[in-house]
Amino acid sequence: MRVRTAFLLTMAVLSGSVFALTASGQQPAGGRPGGPPPVQLPEGPGRQQVQATCTRCHGLNLIANSWGYTRDGWQDRIATMVKLPAPDLETISSYLATHYPIKDAPGAVLLSGPATVSIKEWLAPTLGSRPHDSHAAADGSIWWTGQYASKLGRLDPKSGEIREFDLPANSQPHGLAEDPQGNIWYTGIQKGVIGRLDPRSGQVREYPIMEPGVRGPHTPIMDGRRRRMFFTLQSGHVGRINLDSGEITIRKTPSDNTYPYGIRLNSQGVPWYVDFRGNRIGSVDPQTMDIKEHQLPNADARPRRLTITADDVIWYTDFPRGTLGRFDPKTGETREWPSPGGPQSEPYAITSIRGIIWYSESGVRPNTMVRFDPQTEKFQTFAIPSGGGVLRHFEATAQGNIVTANSGVNKIGLVEIGTLSANRTN
Ligand code: HEC
Repeated sequence: MRVRTAFLLTMAVLSGSVFALTASGQQPAGGRPGGPPPVQLPEGPGRQQVQATCTRCHGLNLIANSWGYTRDGWQDRIATMVKLPAPDLETISSYLATHYPIKDAPGAVLLSGPATVSIKEWLAPTLGSRPHDSHAAADGSIWWTGQYASKLGRLDPKSGEIREFDLPANSQPHGLAEDPQGNIWYTGIQKGVIGRLDPRSGQVREYPIMEPGVRGPHTPIMDGRRRRMFFTLQSGHVGRINLDSGEITIRKTPSDNTYPYGIRLNSQGVPWYVDFRGNRIGSVDPQTMDIKEHQLPNADARPRRLTITADDVIWYTDFPRGTLGRFDPKTGETREWPSPGGPQSEPYAITSIRGIIWYSESGVRPNTMVRFDPQTEKFQTFAIPSGGGVLRHFEATAQGNIVTANSGVNKIGLVEIGTLSANRTN
């Protein structure tokens, strides 16, 4: 199946793009047809303000289901989403600390080991933008998708200088990738487009995905040398775009009711993805786009993200089961290790650096960075200072560090990695 896209839109930068989360079908009151009943806020001073202020972007269920915070903790959290006059902030945070105090979330399990990390975090200028994915750019800058604000951001970690680029309204960029010319390509998950930003001019070009029944472009992976980018789609498809012609090719997965999620290339340029709705991993023929599914032995496995080491072995985070998995395509063998934070630790973003696996546990408080050495099979863990707010996808830099987008705390992070022995000589 092929879809030819015209260059429908060449958009100039729009200043002050509209925050349009409610237009995305999310129900601010917290209710969804057939879903759980909307959250009712308990009586008390501040209830009205919370109702009015905090439902502008999302449901009250996010508050009710949160880990809960102290008054100061609520103030910190709110400051990443909305700027409030001091008296309102006082009233709202007191109300929330009374009715939504700290809950028991699984605590981070901190394990020592041979590595050191230094974690820096920067607040994204647009509050409540939900930085979703991060990208380590060739020039050393850190890029991210400001999903709910329809922006792409760029941070120079040396100077701390940040610039945000407006995308067409309601694009909701989810993932991003860079081509050899330094253009940033993104998946507009809400609008159903692949987009390309030229950071020099700020110009955006959109390539709509027009095939019926195909929606939700999710995670991209760039093969710049061969002038193409692959991407997963929420509708159970995998796509490819030709960087020069804009031609888009879409393929459905062999199984029905799938959710291709994380995607990476192996050393031969073959895309591999994980299926978040089944115990499956898929590989895609980069020429024909034929998809082959590979079964994982545990029927409950739900791999969410993956990384591929230089030996073309697949490593994946199994989010609902709290495990790290290894699948070797050559032998078909699968191995799994329980994550240090336990079955509820929700391992999510994952990458590898010179054979070492790094991933984040998003279900523990605070979120962690986990290091796993396949040689020794030993784990080491580090707490993320801000708490993390869920790290959904991250990448390694050429220097062997990791750039992160910390969604719920609206921050961008740089994890600089060293070793204890190197430290001693400093
Ligand atoms: C400008 C938009 C916006 C406004 C206004 C807003 N939020 Fe949020 N909020 C977000 C976004 C974006 C997220 C991240 C959602 C995600 O990651 O799925 C979020 C997530 C949350 C979470 C879940 C993460 C966590 O820390 O547990 C809580 C709780 C929360 N908001 C509370 C509030 C409260 C309280 C208010 C009102 C004072 C508020 N929000 C107002 C945008 C907003």
